Amino acid sequence: MQRTLVKHALAAEAAKERILVEGWVRTRRDSKAFSFLEVNDGTSLASIQVVADAGIPGYEDIGRMSTGASVAVEGSLVESPGRQKWEIQATRLRLIGASPESYPLQKKGHSPEFLRSIAHLRPRTNLFGAVFRTRSRIAAAVHRFFLDRDFVWVHTPIITASDCEGAGEMFRVTTLDPLADNKGYEHDFFGKPASLTVSGQLEGETFACALSNIYTFGPTFRAENSNTSRHAAEFWMIEPEMAFCDLQGNMEVAEAFIKHIADTMLADDSGDFDFFCRFVDKGLRTRLEEVSCKKFVRCSYTEAIEIMRQSGEHFEYPPHWGMDMQSEHERFLTEKYFRGPVIVYDYPREIKPFYMRLNDDGKTVTAMDVLVPGIGEMIGGSQREERLDVLEGNLERMGMDKEAYSWYNDLRRYGTVPHAGFGVGFERLMMFVTGVQNIRDVLPYPRTPRNCEF
Ligand code: 4AD
Ligand code: MG
Repeated sequence: MQRTLVKHALAAEAAKERILVEGWVRTRRDSKAFSFLEVNDGTSLASIQVVADAGIPGYEDIGRMSTGASVAVEGSLVESPGRQKWEIQATRLRLIGASPESYPLQKKGHSPEFLRSIAHLRPRTNLFGAVFRTRSRIAAAVHRFFLDRDFVWVHTPIITASDCEGAGEMFRVTTLDPLADNKGYEHDFFGKPASLTVSGQLEGETFACALSNIYTFGPTFRAENSNTSRHAAEFWMIEPEMAFCDLQGNMEVAEAFIKHIADTMLADDSGDFDFFCRFVDKGLRTRLEEVSCKKFVRCSYTEAIEIMRQSGEHFEYPPHWGMDMQSEHERFLTEKYFRGPVIVYDYPREIKPFYMRLNDDGKTVTAMDVLVPGIGEMIGGSQREERLDVLEGNLERMGMDKEAYSWYNDLRRYGTVPHAGFGVGFERLMMFVTGVQNIRDVLPYPRTPRNCEF
């Protein structure tokens, strides 16, 4: 008999004579003549109730069908007197894998911190089942957004020889043993230093300057030693890059993108979104609705600093022109002052990477950050410097190796064009649509400083 997923059984249009579901037991209650089993197979938040009369084949194992055990249930799908529409009247049970009392997930519910310590079992809980089904749906929505707009998905390399952000927060890739081998790079696998990528942007730019509109979507690595609820050492990033595009165009795409993701989540009828709204964040629906319909505020860095200086607000780092914004500043702007998403643009060039386009004032670059309530910085991007002489000047001024970037500079040598792009932290996007407060809880296997379990 063919297996029916619990999700489809629960959504059936009519009763069914014969049905087979397979899943894990959430709870079991026994009475004299029958038992109730709640069976969940992870395809939906809801479990299906199974009524098993004593004496049906397989019932002899009922005592071992405890929480966590895997079972196969054959029977008929019948209308349920309970709160769900359907339940299964079992005609046969089969214990597939028993689960002893040491099973760590019990009905009472557990803290996310505890569940992180059993990352291999946490997807079996309501919260993490909902998070990871949502993660898959939102990833699909990301692809839909770009593919519908004629962007090409480019798979930029994970191992790279260049430091895109110039911040030096890179994980080294090597086959040399740091304890035993005292050799030079010429003996290493690539014959020179190599690292895990911090961004696919530079490689993405080369494809945009050939295919017009591209995006990357893949794993990204940063050896930042910041133990916050919004930083991970391994995360996913979405990086669109558009040729023949300036900062204005870049802002428009970024705004449309976030609205598309908010709308996708608001339209979710799987039960997962309702679960987040009820149990994770009561303000979630309203916040997404506002993001979906409100026009994003645009505010230059210079204005933003002025607003904060005159706000009377106490900041740990008092705002002044030239400073890098801290998360306290970003959250003030988006949560307290503008009370909605805000795009801050034109930052001082001293605090931004070499590739951003210099404005005519000679002091600022065409950078933009998209700040959203509850998260702070969700997107960072810019128009890129398309003038060869200015770009080479930047590399020199920042003491970077001009030779190492000559492949990148070639784009400016042969048919240069204005182009722009941005990077979205996929986990921050996930926190935004689920209301989950810690980045570790939207990552299947979170990696943070001093933590690389499993
Ligand atoms: O602002 P960032 O560093 O920008 C870039 O990497 C550019 N190359 C992007 C581009 O223009 N193509 O990173 C982009 C976004 C941030 O806004 C943030 O959402 C996320 O990536 N991010 C992180 N997410 C989780 N953990 C970390 N350690 C992150 N660092 C950045
Ligand atoms: Mg940034």
